[in-house]
Amino acid sequence: MIWVFLVHLLLLLPFSSQGANPGLVGRITQKGIDYAHQLGIEVLKSQIPKIQIPDMSGRYDIGGIGDVKYEVSRMHILEFQLPQSAVTFFPGTGIKLSISNAYIKINGDWRVKVLFISDSGSFDISVSGLSISAVIWVKKDDTGRPAVGSAGCSSSIGDLSIKFHGGTSWLYNLFTGALEGPIRNSLNEKLCPEVNNAINGLEPHLQTIPITAQIDKIAEIEYSLVNPPEITDKYTDLDFKGEFYNIGQHTEPPFSPLPIVLSDQTDSMLYVGISEFFANSAGFVYTRAGALQINITDDMIPEESPFRLNTHSFGVLVPEIEKLYPNMSMVMHLSASKQPVLTSQPDNLTVVVTGEIKMLVILPNASLAPLFILGLDASVSAKLLVTGVSIRGELSLNKFSLSLDHSDVGPFDVSKLQTLVNLALKLVVLPQINEKLAKGFPLPTIDKIKFVSPSIKINQGFILIATDIQYTP
Ligand SMILES: *[C@@H]1O[C@H](CO)[C@@H](O)[C@H](O)[C@H]1NC(C)=O
Ligand SMILES: *[C@@H]1O[C@H](CO)[C@@H](O)[C@H](O)[C@H]1NC(C)=O
Ligand SMILES: *[C@@H]1O[C@H](CO)[C@@H](O)[C@H](O)[C@H]1NC(C)=O
Ligand SMILES: *[C@@H]1O[C@H](CO)[C@@H](O)[C@H](O)[C@H]1NC(C)=O
Repeated sequence: MIWVFLVHLLLLLPFSSQGANPGLVGRITQKGIDYAHQLGIEVLKSQIPKIQIPDMSGRYDIGGIGDVKYEVSRMHILEFQLPQSAVTFFPGTGIKLSISNAYIKINGDWRVKVLFISDSGSFDISVSGLSISAVIWVKKDDTGRPAVGSAGCSSSIGDLSIKFHGGTSWLYNLFTGALEGPIRNSLNEKLCPEVNNAINGLEPHLQTIPITAQIDKIAEIEYSLVNPPEITDKYTDLDFKGEFYNIGQHTEPPFSPLPIVLSDQTDSMLYVGISEFFANSAGFVYTRAGALQINITDDMIPEESPFRLNTHSFGVLVPEIEKLYPNMSMVMHLSASKQPVLTSQPDNLTVVVTGEIKMLVILPNASLAPLFILGLDASVSAKLLVTGVSIRGELSLNKFSLSLDHSDVGPFDVSKLQTLVNLALKLVVLPQINEKLAKGFPLPTIDKIKFVSPSIKINQGFILIATDIQYTP
């Protein structure tokens, strides 16, 4: 009894993240599935003539004549026409495929033996008015991947006719009429099971869709679905987790995503909404991993700069430094003291960075002596670009302020260091970060899909990418 109770209790706990706000939303529009449909038809048209139809043989009893042994071989599809087909959303359930008025012509060889006579020739079977309508349900499985299955299928065949060539006409004329009805029925009975098989055949592929993407040694992005797909008659919205994690150790940040509200846009094939949360979960992971730090040495300062990272240059601003440590090199340790916070407002992506700058002197025996510690509050503008199927960022410095948090060389006016820190940030720190950001973050996509003329819009709380797609097999 205790087990039953425990199981019930477990079921009540909010284990699944159902209803959670996504960090990333993907919208596929009717235009998007129209494109997929177009590709599908091309594939169908190229594949159908290649379908292998197995040879058949058997016996057929014709009243009054007796047993007819028959053999049908070398069957192949001569002609296939698909004048009307459509893929549409089936609100609340999934996707509806419909084919109507399709036409297939099959050609093959026949051979019969009846009594002591044997005869052979070729034949054509024409099937017209073939219609299939199938609904595929689309859900989220327990692993957060999309799952599909058949939610109903119906088919009908308008007309089926068989024409025999060669051989003795009186013979096949005896049973042509008798054959058409049964073949038509058995073909119709096979259509939906075949369609269902094809739909179920998608499932193993979907189960291998990667739901995490590794970024570097520190972080990975999780892309599992957090909610079932929302399927309307114009689009399907997919809510992805869209969160950076420390590899191997998933700690949730002390903030969570706000809802991403996409307006009813359907002009592009695909929309991707990326929340502030996506970027801020990255800041959380990299700050915790101690990765947001950089040591600047004199050799990293461009040669043209008259200002060097040594006690002589700094002595001009703070004379005490050169007095205590004449003619020595210095090093600047920059680190984030809090996680950077990205804010997305209409046409304005701003990152606020709170950090610490430790200045140290390199003694002749190579050990370091501390000079002073500055507090840094900086505001950085972010620009985003989409290339291929990844987003890239580029940062530029807006403004910053410094405070003297600690000094081993006595008090001094910190504003004297403004120019120098500005140089260090613009010439060394930002270029290094931008180099990393230029590699971009992969978005969840299916293999072989490319974005075509993507556009980016910065909205309140999220960034929206609108794009068409191109599939290259
Ligand atoms: C910067 O230097 C300090 C002290 O030498 C060291 O502990 C730290 O790992 C260095 N950081 C980087 C990013 O190289
Ligand atoms: C400063 O130190 C370098 C070696 O580190 C030396 O070559 C140079 O002569 C020194 N300059 C002064 C003014 O002491
Ligand atoms: C952008 O947003 C930040 C705050 O997030 C604000 O301080 C800044 O003034 C804004 N910039 C513009 C150009 O509106
Ligand atoms: C380096 O020199 C400084 C001062 O001259 C001294 O305090 C420190 O212990 C020395 N460090 C090493 C590793 O020798």
